[in-house]
Amino acid sequence: MQAYAIWNNKGGTGKSTISFHIASRFAELNPNRKILVVDLCPQANSSMLILGGGLAGEKEVLGLCSQSIPKSVVGYISNAILSRGIPKLDNFSIQVSTLNKQMPDNLFLLSGDGNLELMAPALNDEAMRTPFPGLADPWKWVHEIFTRMRLELSDEWTVFFDTNPSFSIYTELAVCGATRLLVPVNADDSSRVAVKALFALLYGTNPPHQFFGNYTFAARALQRGISIPTVHLAIGNRFTQYKGAAAAFAAFSDATADQLHGEFTSSPQRFSNRDAPATNRQEFLDAYVVELRDFNTAGVVAAHLGTPLSKMRQDYYPVHSDPDVKVNKSQITVGLQAIDNVVKRIEL
Ligand SMILES: Nc1ncnc2c1ncn2[C@@H]1O[C@H](COP(=O)(O)OP(=O)(O)OP(=O)(O)O)[C@@H](O)[C@H]1O
Ligand SMILES: [Mg+2]
Repeated sequence: MQAYAIWNNKGGTGKSTISFHIASRFAELNPNRKILVVDLCPQANSSMLILGGGLAGEKEVLGLCSQSIPKSVVGYISNAILSRGIPKLDNFSIQVSTLNKQMPDNLFLLSGDGNLELMAPALNDEAMRTPFPGLADPWKWVHEIFTRMRLELSDEWTVFFDTNPSFSIYTELAVCGATRLLVPVNADDSSRVAVKALFALLYGTNPPHQFFGNYTFAARALQRGISIPTVHLAIGNRFTQYKGAAAAFAAFSDATADQLHGEFTSSPQRFSNRDAPATNRQEFLDAYVVELRDFNTAGVVAAHLGTPLSKMRQDYYPVHSDPDVKVNKSQITVGLQAIDNVVKRIEL
C-alpha cells in the first residue's frame, strides 16, 4: 500500500492544486479503493478545494478546525501525543461527499488546519525532548506519527499528503509518513536548485555541513533508521503564465532534468523501482518525469468550485466577481487528459 507525499521545497509549484485533482480523479477511477488526503500544510489549500473551493471550502475547513476536538490534522496529532497511541482515524477524518456532494464517496480527508503552525513549536519541543532511558525515542516517535497511521490502514487505502514547501516539522512528518514522493516542478530556473535542495534535505550533503551536519533531519533520520520515501515522479507543471520566455515552453528545463538524472545515476535507490531499470537519460526521463500541461480555465474553475474536472460541463460558471466564466468542452477534455496522464502513473 502506497502513501504519496506531494512535496517540493519550492513554494507555488502546484502541490495543492495537483493534490486536489489527482486525489479526486484517482478516487473516481478506483471506486473499490479508499483514498485519504492528509493535508499537512497549515494553509489548508487542498482541503479547501476538496471541500468545495472558494469561500464555501474555506468555511467548511474552519468548521472542522473549530470543533472542540478538531476534525483535522491538529486534532489527530494532539490525540496521538496525548494518548501515546494511534488515534482512531474516523474520529478525525471525514468522508468528503458528506460535505461536498460533487466528490466521490471513496474520498476521505484529514483536513488541514491553520493551527498546525501554532502547534509546530510544541511539536518540535516534544520531538527534541531528551530521551528517557528505556522509553521510546521522542524524535523517532513524533516523526513516525503518520507512519503508524499508514501501517494501521488496510491494503484498500491509498494516501496522499499535501505539504508545505518549508521543511518544518509538519513537512517532516508528512515525508516520514509517505512511501513515495510526487515532486511538482516548474520550468523556471529555480527548479533545478529546488531539486538539489530536496535531496540535500532528505539525505544530507556529502560531506555534511561542518557545523550543522549533525542537527539536520537527514542525520537524525539516518541515525534512527527512519525510511525516506523514494522519488516516484517529477511532475513538470506547465503553467501558461511562464510561457513568456521561449525556453519555458517545455514543462521541464534541461537543467532540472540533468539534476534529477545526476541524482539517479549516483543514487538509484532514492527513486522508486521500475520493472526495467533506466539505463540512460532518456529512459530515466520516460520513467520518472511526467508533463502536466496547463489545466487551463476548466481545471482552474473546477478547483475553484471544488468539483472534479470529470464532472464539469460546458457552461458559464461564477468565479469571484465574474459571474460568467466560460468553460468549453475541449478545455475539459484536454485538462482531464492531462490529469489522467499523471494518475495512470500512480500505483496502488
Ligand atoms: N497546471 C496548472 N495550470 C494552471 N494553473 C495552475 C496549475 N498548477 C497550479 N496552478 C495555479 O498556480 C497557483 C499555485 O498553485 P498551488 O497553490 O497549487 O501551489 P502550491 O505548490 O500548493 O503552493 P504552496 O507552496 O504555497 O503550498 C494556483 O493559483 C493554481 O491555481
Ligand atoms: Mg499548497
